[in-house]
Amino acid sequence: MNIITNIILILILAFTILLLITAVVNLFSGAVSVPSNRNTIKLMLEVANLKKGDVIYDLGCGDARLLIQAEKKYGTIGIGYENAPITFLVAQILKKIRKSNVKILFRNFFKDSLSEAKIIFLYLSPEVQKNLTTKIKKECRKGTTIISNCFHLPDLTPYKTIPKDKKNKTNTVHIYKIK
Ligand SMILES: C[S@@+](CC[C@H](N)C(=O)[O-])C[C@H]1O[C@@H](n2cnc3c(N)ncnc32)[C@H](O)[C@@H]1O
Repeated sequence: MNIITNIILILILAFTILLLITAVVNLFSGAVSVPSNRNTIKLMLEVANLKKGDVIYDLGCGDARLLIQAEKKYGTIGIGYENAPITFLVAQILKKIRKSNVKILFRNFFKDSLSEAKIIFLYLSPEVQKNLTTKIKKECRKGTTIISNCFHLPDLTPYKTIPKDKKNKTNTVHIYKIK
């Protein structure tokens, strides 16, 4: 076997291992790496009333497309958390391609404080959002806005819910304000 074949085999092996780790991380964190669709992202950004310089978080940012789009369109400062390796790599590549300044952390968001966030975007799962509600209530400042694709934050009442719109291909979006 020549050296090129060896390198290709090593790369395939490394990718397979990362893929397996990603699947296991997704399984244990309780939310799979499925991105919000384009129209739902557009809707979530519109209802967020974003201003230039706002610090926005996407907890479980996937490929970070929501944060990058917000930065390009509204001039926000994006911080994303992603703990699945392949998804994190895809986010880094997309960030490079789009010449974006968003910060993507390869971390479990449960380990960091949410006190600096002005606006938080979510698209996780009912189970994860149940655990997240306590953290949000404890750490988020008064006035923090939380915008969730599909899933509720139990124990918090949304001040607005935009229902699923099949024609426009948008999911249900819940908007919360911390009091
Ligand atoms: C359904 S995707 C949503 C991606 C993106 N927010 C969007 O709306 O397109 C959820 C992502 O959250 C990540 N995730 C789940 N729990 C996490 C945790 N505790 N810390 C960091 N990332 C997490 C998953 O790996 C997955 O990529």
